[in-house]
Amino acid sequence: DGFPAVKLFNQGYSYTYDDVIFLPHYIDFATDSVQLNTKLTKNISLSIPCVSSPMDTVTESYMAVAMAYLGGIGILHSNNTPSEQFALLESAKSRRIPFVSDFEVKSPADVIELSDFGYGTVILVTDTGSRKSRVLGYVLKSVWVNLKNKDGRVCDYMSKLDYSVPSSYHLDQIAGFLGDKGVKLVPTVRESDGEVVDVMTLEDIEKFQEYPKRGLPSLTPNGDFLVGAAIGTRDSDKQRLEYLVKGGVDAVVLDSSQGNSIYQLDMIKYIKKTYPGLDVIGGNVVTAYQAQNLIQAGVDGLRVGMGSGSICTTQEVCAVGRGQATAVYKVSSIASKSGVPVIADGGISNSGHIVKALVLGASTVMMGSYLAGSTEAPGAYVVQDGRRLKKYRGMGSLEAMTKGSDQRYLGDKSKLKIAQGVVGAVADKGSILKFVPYAMHAVKQGFQDLGASSLQSAHELLRSEVLRLEARTGAAQAEGGVHGLVSYEKKAF
Ligand code: XMP
Repeated sequence: DGFPAVKLFNQGYSYTYDDVIFLPHYIDFATDSVQLNTKLTKNISLSIPCVSSPMDTVTESYMAVAMAYLGGIGILHSNNTPSEQFALLESAKSRRIPFVSDFEVKSPADVIELSDFGYGTVILVTDTGSRKSRVLGYVLKSVWVNLKNKDGRVCDYMSKLDYSVPSSYHLDQIAGFLGDKGVKLVPTVRESDGEVVDVMTLEDIEKFQEYPKRGLPSLTPNGDFLVGAAIGTRDSDKQRLEYLVKGGVDAVVLDSSQGNSIYQLDMIKYIKKTYPGLDVIGGNVVTAYQAQNLIQAGVDGLRVGMGSGSICTTQEVCAVGRGQATAVYKVSSIASKSGVPVIADGGISNSGHIVKALVLGASTVMMGSYLAGSTEAPGAYVVQDGRRLKKYRGMGSLEAMTKGSDQRYLGDKSKLKIAQGVVGAVADKGSILKFVPYAMHAVKQGFQDLGASSLQSAHELLRSEVLRLEARTGAAQAEGGVHGLVSYEKKAF
């Protein structure tokens, strides 16, 4: 019944995730016993198969820390100067808690207005009003709104505070400190430069404890979070890489939309020679031929996808690419022979897509839009028509390229910029600490339906043709989605 993958994907069609569907198999284990632990590269293991995309509206230090806390990894984008990217890496490496604290800083002589609180609930008062000077006190929004005289200077009514904890403290150490001292909040301060990193409250800690179960965090032997970073393939990227290696980067991604190029092959060889211990992820590729070249050059991981991203226009602009299901299957079939893990990059918009990518041979999925709009994504929320939105843009969009990401889309220093991506916005999704564990549970259920108790078992079942799949017609896809309902207002019932 159904088709083995090798037959379905060799008929001359380019299939994407929605085009194909797996036939259910036999269940003889519980959902919770499904293991999603996997490999990012030959040498880096993760407890969940999730990677955040190196895009400037997706992965900066907060996202990288939260991804590693969940058991995945974040790849810091490179649409910045080498020192800015180094600062993101340093910040991610110095944190032990995945916390996005919205707090403002004032000096004692300042006067506060309601808007000064931003989205946060606390204003910290420091000597000079900078995050790098001595903390003197704080003002809680809840206290401030009830003050009779709000026009006075901050130092006249702030609560005094003369303690802090190192930013290398773990959640339970901070909870212990707050409990022992009997205080409401504590700033966490980076030891290396004295900068205030977060302001933690007991409520924050309780909130964490309510989040769903997650995998083991991705940590180095030193106890800091695993963090990846993107670089390009120009000579100037060698200097960028030198910085990143100093900052302790754990893997580098050569960020290119068509990775099978002389520039990338030379860069892989250079990195392997100069930093033999550093794992290199090459790509992007979508064919066995492209993959083979990068594998021979020595990559430790392959990133697969061309034009499948939600903000991509590469296939339309350049007429090149491949349906993502076909691309993942074809590249994984070759890469698995050399033990090179595959990252299925782009086109993930639900947990079913994650299941399909993983079963078709990928070891991890890389996500942009799925994680954009979350608390941990860079950028501020804007409110439009009553909805909170965050910007999400393609790195090949004119807007992003104006900032510098053009080298991903141009092999040379062409002056004409051709957009291969668009700029948009996505709705507020809340914290990834909340929704990624749910998605992982849904993925486990998908694996259970297929009778696959792990990624390795899924790959084996696919290879041995036990797992079967079919292409879906347009009508079958419509049937598989929500249909036949009309929208209604809750109060109507
Ligand atoms: P999703 O679907 O997760 O895709 O939003 C994220 C991936 O899309 C790629 N990317 C681009 N591709 N033009 C493109 O053709 C772009 O401007 C662009 N920006 C990002 C990238 O591989 C990312 O991980």
